[in-house]
Amino acid sequence: MTGAVTITIANRGGASFLVDPKKPLLASLEAQGVSLPYGCKYGGCITCAAKLLHGEIDQQAAVALNNKQLRDGYVLLCVARPKSDCTLDVGVDSHDKLYRNPFAEPLKQDELKADIATQPEETR
Ligand code: FES
Repeated sequence: MTGAVTITIANRGGASFLVDPKKPLLASLEAQGVSLPYGCKYGGCITCAAKLLHGEIDQQAAVALNNKQLRDGYVLLCVARPKSDCTLDVGVDSHDKLYRNPFAEPLKQDELKADIATQPEETR
């Protein structure tokens, strides 16, 4: 595989996989026998979220993540393409900071997506 990068899964015993950086990580890892949770497969539900520990990911289609989740290192494997070798924690045991009760702990303005945090001109 030309241009392949190495994906290491820290919370699966440090197992590593060579993947094509042009393909989404969920598809590449599942093709190599890694069992991962997923739902929509288009970046909309966050079921496939994993925590990026090292490396760089392109995930422009990850519309379901808010700024806090992005800052906490979450990536959506169904749309994430690796830009370098990466180390990830995957599965529900990586979701410790992913979900929170919005009534007990509302998100601050800077933790929302920019288009949610900014009111359109005509509604002000
Ligand atoms: S499976 Fe829904 S966001 Fe990845």
